[in-house]
Amino acid sequence: MKNGNARTALERDCACAALPDESHGAACTRVASRFPELWLRLYAAKKLRSDPVFPAAFELLRASREPLLDVGCGVGLLGFYLRERGFQPPIAGIDRDGRKIARAQAVAERHYPALEFVEQDAADNLERSGSLALFDVLHYLRPDEQERLLARLVPRIAPGGMLLIRDCPRDENARFWLTYLAERFAQATTWNVRTSLHFPTRAAVAAHFLHNEFEQKIAPLWGDTPFNNHLFIFRRRAIAPVAG
Ligand SMILES: C[S@@+](CC[C@H](N)C(=O)[O-])C[C@H]1O[C@@H](n2cnc3c(N)ncnc32)[C@H](O)[C@@H]1O
Repeated sequence: MKNGNARTALERDCACAALPDESHGAACTRVASRFPELWLRLYAAKKLRSDPVFPAAFELLRASREPLLDVGCGVGLLGFYLRERGFQPPIAGIDRDGRKIARAQAVAERHYPALEFVEQDAADNLERSGSLALFDVLHYLRPDEQERLLARLVPRIAPGGMLLIRDCPRDENARFWLTYLAERFAQATTWNVRTSLHFPTRAAVAAHFLHNEFEQKIAPLWGDTPFNNHLFIFRRRAIAPVAG
């Protein structure tokens, strides 16, 4: 990151990411209403309205023309939300949980025909390029799997495109441990993946991104929660700076 008064485009985007405008609420309502099952409508409405990652992602991506791949997309909330906010580039989502993909596909078929959802493990071949989202996925993977996934995602980021990662860095503070306990509870009581948890360190994630190739920022994104959620933003520079 640059020091001093000059702010990069990435820093300006982050500054406005915390200020959802009035179309945010309407988009949340419309997306939630698309799910045929009551419990999913309620889940989607609460998640979209309470989780600051959705408006933050929109603010970061709104000017981009790059296609978006949502890795570990769940029931497709990010893609549906972005479309409702007017984000026009192609959107695809992959998730290894067929139950969630089936729900996403059903909603897309009826309401968002240009969105594509595929049941796929992120460890399998990824062919798309553009911008990528990886929200609340990394900590379900073992450290070696995280390494391999990040190494495979980096080349898929187009010039000017971004990889947005939302996760809880292993900061070993009170926020971190509260996040850990809440995730354990969620695993026991919801359909979240039941596997061991491996929250990554900031350094382990950032090590994949060379400073001369990527603008980068790791910003708190915990909203009103006591958790340690952060947004990791890596934007591939359109033109690499000339050395010397
Ligand atoms: C907590 S959910 C987050 C869903 C969505 N990203 C969101 O923010 O609403 C984590 C998702 O990651 C998916 N997932 C975990 N490991 C995966 C892998 N190796 N490949 C694809 N999806 C994976 C799970 O199936 C689950 O849907």
